[in-house]
Amino acid sequence: MEIGTLDTFDATTQKFDAASLVQVLRYVEDVPLDLKRASTLLVPGGRLAIIETDWNGTVLNSSFPETTRKILDAHDDDVPSANLPTKLIGLLTTAGFSVIDVEAVPLLETSWAEGTFTYSMFIRFAELAVKLEAITEKEAKTWLEDLQSKNDNGEYFFCANRMLFSCVKL
Ligand SMILES: C[S@@+](CC[C@H](N)C(=O)[O-])C[C@H]1O[C@@H](n2cnc3c(N)ncnc32)[C@H](O)[C@@H]1O
Repeated sequence: MEIGTLDTFDATTQKFDAASLVQVLRYVEDVPLDLKRASTLLVPGGRLAIIETDWNGTVLNSSFPETTRKILDAHDDDVPSANLPTKLIGLLTTAGFSVIDVEAVPLLETSWAEGTFTYSMFIRFAELAVKLEAITEKEAKTWLEDLQSKNDNGEYFFCANRMLFSCVKL
């Protein structure tokens, strides 16, 4: 297995049977260009797997849903290509792929404590929203304290879907 950015590889000398792009496309400026690059690196019939998350679909038990919305929006505003899953089938088709399967892979947590997936993630999300001036430091503190209290009362609930796109290069 070789790991690198899409421009690490030279499609004139290297061809692959399979490639994966896991939680990376939301960070790239030109998704159609990178899907085209992925296509040129694959042999005809080669497989491509993509995993992306659309944070718009986040379910979270918070007493401050407006703050949750601002924090999730700030997380999306910080990257060039947020909310890709709804657009990927069209983009993949244009780049020369047939999308053979799309699955949701749920992330679900009912506790918020060190070591859980969302513990460090939501602290980072809140810090970013403060940095981008989407919320105040006080709002961030109140929001995080609420998540802690939800956990302490056995009421923490988070769910979001990762979307897995399985494709074949035509
Ligand atoms: C959320 S991590 C995912 C890492 C890994 N694929 C995984 O699932 O554990 C996002 C990755 O995207 C990389 N990344 C960010 N911007 C990028 C860009 N413009 N081109 C290529 N990779 C980028 C980062 O270095 C980081 O490794």
